[in-house]
Amino acid sequence: MPPPNLPTLRWGVIATGMISSWFVKDLVLDRPDAKAHHTIEAIGSSSQEKGQTFAQEYCPHESTTIYGSYEEVYTDPSVDIVYIGTPHAFHLRNCLDAIAHGKHVLCEKAFTLNASQAREVFAAAKDRGVFVMEAMWIRFHPLTRALQVKIHEDNVIGRVQRVFCDFSLDMDIDSLPDDSRLKNPALGAGSLLDIGIYSLTWALLAADPNVGGKAHVPGILASQKLSNGADVATAAILGYPSGIQAIVTSSLSFATAPQFCRIEGTEGFIIVQGPGTSAPERFTVHLKTPSGDTAAEGITFSFNKPGMGFYWEADAVAVDISEGRIENDIMPWAETIRVLEILDEIRRQGGARYDCD
Ligand SMILES: NC(=O)c1ccc[n+]([C@@H]2O[C@H](COP(=O)([O-])OP(=O)(O)OC[C@H]3O[C@@H](n4cnc5c(N)ncnc54)[C@H](OP(=O)(O)O)[C@@H]3O)[C@@H](O)[C@H]2O)c1
Repeated sequence: MPPPNLPTLRWGVIATGMISSWFVKDLVLDRPDAKAHHTIEAIGSSSQEKGQTFAQEYCPHESTTIYGSYEEVYTDPSVDIVYIGTPHAFHLRNCLDAIAHGKHVLCEKAFTLNASQAREVFAAAKDRGVFVMEAMWIRFHPLTRALQVKIHEDNVIGRVQRVFCDFSLDMDIDSLPDDSRLKNPALGAGSLLDIGIYSLTWALLAADPNVGGKAHVPGILASQKLSNGADVATAAILGYPSGIQAIVTSSLSFATAPQFCRIEGTEGFIIVQGPGTSAPERFTVHLKTPSGDTAAEGITFSFNKPGMGFYWEADAVAVDISEGRIENDIMPWAETIRVLEILDEIRRQGGARYDCD
């Protein structure tokens, strides 16, 4: 049991797809080290029956109200915050609707289709005085903080020079129906917004410690392979004035190997790995030996956890809201906008377009 006197956050979840199921399962886990209590007050779905099945499977012990619409979640007075797990193209509308009803918001990545939409959401949140955050959950993973300390505070690999990160999945895209959110540009399809955003996030965390206000948009060279207007593969090089280069890639036709990210410095390199680029489990530091070679054997730091780990971001949100903040320090609004500006530029060069661009 978690300790008493923690903040309690009452969630309304909209959409009952894959990510909503992962998020809700994690929220109801019994965690002795939890920083907040979470309750699933409401679920909104395109159908009441779908919502019912979802609740029975993923949060059977909660007293959850099931709605056959998203609007009823926004108007439910027992809901403090709306979690948005819909396809990318709906995030703008869902965020604005929730905010208009005075609800706080945690919205899945990619936060919106482009940076301009994100600015619109944050302006609405500021006007209404509600908390909003992009659910880029890996930034809240203890591994991420430990990795940043090693790279940017302990300088274990010296000066960072290059970062390579890939997130690719073997989706057999041709076999998916045309209305799949991975295939239909009207739903915000494409590898970049779905998974390439993780490759970019690791690169930014490794190459550029200035998360938030002071961070800048690096120079970008990008190429995309398109199918029906959506990118099935993206490759981008980020170039910093300091000379650091980051190569970020994503594809929907071949699965990434577990060693998904390599960070090279003047004194050694670090490999980050896990079953997916969105599911880090450990990193290994390889230092240069006195002879100048890089040690084949490194020191590994592993991070085991119950469930999947979505509760870290949820706890952070609960603490922020309980203390009256409307944005989070680890995933501030400026960082969401910076990431989307980079994604916008990659798409401008690569050719993937959305109607809202
Ligand atoms: N953080 C992570 O690790 C992670 C992992 C996977 C995905 N995601 C993000 O989560 C979001 C959803 O992805 P997902 O994989 O969960 O998608 P999904 O399994 O396809 O579920 C999306 C849900 O959105 C609702 N929806 C509303 N309008 C829809 C439409 N026109 N077409 C399809 N679905 C519609 C549906 O729920 P109802 O019928 O119940 O309304 C559907 O079940 C995306 O932003 C994605 O990038 C994040």
